[in-house]
Amino acid sequence: MTEPHQNYLWWQEGIIYQIYPRSFQDSNGDGIGDIPGISTRLDYVQSLGVTTIWLSPIFPSPMADFGYDISDYQDVSPLFGSLADFDVLLTEVHSRGMKLILDLVPNHTSSQHPWFLESRSSRDNPKRDWYIWQDGRPDGSPPNNWLSVFGGSGWEWDEPTQQYYYHGFLKEQPDLNWRNPVVQEAMFTAIRFWLDKGVDGFRVDVIWHLIKDNQLRDNPVNPDYEPHMATYDQLVPVYSTDQPEVHDLIRQMRQLVDTYEERLLIGEIYLPVQQLMAYYGVDGNEVHLPFNFQLLLLPWEAPQIATAIAEYERALPVNGWPNWVLGNHDRPRIASRVGTEQARVAALLLLTLRGTPTLYYGDEIGMRDVAIPFDEVQDPQGLNMPEKNLSRDPERTPMQWNSQPNAGFTEGKPWLRLARDFARQNVDQQQADPYSMLALYKRLIDLRQQEPSLKAGDYLPVYSDAQLIAYIRHIKNAPRFLIVLNLSHHPAYFTLTDHALKGIVEVATLPEWEGSFISETISLGGDEGILVRLTT
Ligand code: NOJ
Repeated sequence: MTEPHQNYLWWQEGIIYQIYPRSFQDSNGDGIGDIPGISTRLDYVQSLGVTTIWLSPIFPSPMADFGYDISDYQDVSPLFGSLADFDVLLTEVHSRGMKLILDLVPNHTSSQHPWFLESRSSRDNPKRDWYIWQDGRPDGSPPNNWLSVFGGSGWEWDEPTQQYYYHGFLKEQPDLNWRNPVVQEAMFTAIRFWLDKGVDGFRVDVIWHLIKDNQLRDNPVNPDYEPHMATYDQLVPVYSTDQPEVHDLIRQMRQLVDTYEERLLIGEIYLPVQQLMAYYGVDGNEVHLPFNFQLLLLPWEAPQIATAIAEYERALPVNGWPNWVLGNHDRPRIASRVGTEQARVAALLLLTLRGTPTLYYGDEIGMRDVAIPFDEVQDPQGLNMPEKNLSRDPERTPMQWNSQPNAGFTEGKPWLRLARDFARQNVDQQQADPYSMLALYKRLIDLRQQEPSLKAGDYLPVYSDAQLIAYIRHIKNAPRFLIVLNLSHHPAYFTLTDHALKGIVEVATLPEWEGSFISETISLGGDEGILVRLTT
């Protein structure tokens, strides 16, 4: 069994809170959230008990993909403020004992980045080889069949220089050629710039896309494609992503990060568990945390979730630290996906599993996806494939702070409309309500941070069936906890086969449970979950 006095690193003990800067807090009335706005909300973030803030991109950008198209890696977009504003934020975060990590987007730049402007200026420009340029096939068609994640071909024809360039996302986001060592060095310079400033690490965007097959072979057809899926899913991206050479690059990145004290590298990786594990590296020499997105992707059914947890735990390499993500800016919000009541169960699950939890701003107050009328859609993924309902705007709407106009987010016109019911669903209102989602999150976070078993203890599955998941978290010489979750909307019954187990409910989705004595059979209503402090 795990020993309690083992030393854990800050990111192992911590809880990550993702802020989407456009939507957190506007300070200058332009309707777009900014860095000074975030600084004014740090008391709130700290009051949640989370320990680490991850900021989605804040760098200069034409905003074709809302900051994931960067035109300068070593500055801050004027929309979000200045480098000086950033320094203030970083100091404020650190003075509160919290950490700040940034989004690093090394796979592609903006098509307006000076590197790309030079690269496309002529075939013999010294930066030509910084991007992936290729002749067309003899009939003039693109070099291969690779598709863009955002729809259509991944290749864009450049008339003046008579070649195609590759873009895994928008044509405004040309992919860098990471086989070129000069490119690697340029990105490493940007990494150093922020680490020198004192940022605590990076979440690395689409890290598994970084390097492509050097023969640019066609991707095979996906036999499981269905018409409702994104067009990108018509092929299996075996040659355009997850190439063996990517691991060499990540090792280099990690070596660089390791020259600074205790910095964190997280990889954004959407891959099946076995492939995901490779990104921890041999002896942990790649990313510290390859994001584990299973809770975002799996159907919300007890058998699937229980199996996924078990498989993930089993697949982890020795010393590989687990992590769990419940929401992000690319996926429908948890409260919309599973319902507001069940989202409370999801919170209990996220904050009692073994491994670093990542939560997405607003989920702690149960924010739901907001329907954005067609003529207000902003997300390129939504605009490019209108018939597929893939816009990510609904999960990116402004934070609901209070019942003032625009929920206290801005004094101007918000860049995306707010939820209609924000006057009833907001931070202020939930802070005053001991039964709120916010109150539940705070209690769970607080307990997790206090109890060694919850923070770092082993995960012991106890039971699962069509409705329920039950597990114990325990560490040597510390109180143990039993967690029983009903992932269905109907009553469910759980009998402790180990009759020696007894305890008191400490936190529950339905607070009326709290303080109840537990032994033998537990009758849980639909959408209920309990966390029991075991007394025997
Ligand atoms: C993943 C990011 O999370 C997403 O928002 C973005 O559109 C793509 N990478 C492209 O950078």
